[in-house]
Amino acid sequence: MKEELETIRKNALESIGSTKAGADLEAIRVKYLGKKGELTAVLKQMGSLAAEMRPIMGQMANDVRASVEEAIEAQSAVLEQRAMEARLRREAVDVTIPGKKLTVGHKHPMYTVLDEIKDIFISMGFEILDGPEVELADYNFTRLNTPEDHPAREWSDTFYLKEDSSILLRTQTSNMQIRAMETRPLPIRVMAPGRVYRKDEVDATHSPMFHQIEGLVVDKGVTMGDLKGTLNAVIRQIYGPNTVTRFRPHHFPFTEPSCEMDIQCHKCGGVGCPTCKGEGWIEVLGAGMVHPKVLSGCGIDPEVYSGFAFGMGLERLALGRFKISDMRLIFENDVRFLNQF
Ligand code: PHE
Repeated sequence: MKEELETIRKNALESIGSTKAGADLEAIRVKYLGKKGELTAVLKQMGSLAAEMRPIMGQMANDVRASVEEAIEAQSAVLEQRAMEARLRREAVDVTIPGKKLTVGHKHPMYTVLDEIKDIFISMGFEILDGPEVELADYNFTRLNTPEDHPAREWSDTFYLKEDSSILLRTQTSNMQIRAMETRPLPIRVMAPGRVYRKDEVDATHSPMFHQIEGLVVDKGVTMGDLKGTLNAVIRQIYGPNTVTRFRPHHFPFTEPSCEMDIQCHKCGGVGCPTCKGEGWIEVLGAGMVHPKVLSGCGIDPEVYSGFAFGMGLERLALGRFKISDMRLIFENDVRFLNQF
């Protein structure tokens, strides 16, 4: 029996020493110390021993159990340590590897210009409005004094969303004049930038979608002098303090009188060059005094109040500001182009 116990101790310690995982240790514990294990089997033979041998063998068996348990414990600690070291090796971070460069985007050049213009208007006390691109023909045309038979309402020029021409993609931001007068208390001082849509073929200066900035001022005693003063101040902040401007008579159904504003070509100083197509002047906006019919249509008494309105193309401003020659570049969103701004 003594030899059996020694053999158990020897075999158990040997196999414990060569285990590679915690599960193997558990199997060994079961094999030697478990209810049906080898040590238990030997202990069952105790009955057949002489009485004086029993305590001695009992002591020895406990010894074996203790040393096997101890060995399992020690090996378990070794395995844990190894596993930890392996994990540290696996998860090691090499701080010398160069990092991944994240490409961060930036504002589109057109919105850079828009934000500058917004700042100018905000500094003059204007409120910034946002409005619908899908619009009732009423707001885009009729209430802007543009009756049903007006050529501007042709199907060939406008994207209508309904057969009866009642709903459309707005062709101008002037719809915001009506929406502002309908909802704002007087006096009104607003600017409303946004997308507009026209059935235009794409070329260097045309796109079926482009952006306008609408402006509207309504108060007592507003005159054409206020219109000119305001727009001159705005344009000189955009194009520089020495910019030369001129106002030409024009026609819009919803303003009377109406005008267009030109700036003298900053490239050639008015002599004529490719930038101004030989004209010496570049058109920058349409404007005028709000038509009395438009005011009264919005419940504002034209005998008491007057106002001016203007609309400018944002793309054209951005092209001029950044010396870009083709409007398509603004919309193509080729990062090689956009990265230059
Ligand atoms: N809506 C006009 C256009 O698209 C511009 C304009 C706005 C003219 C406001 C007068 C007043 O051409």
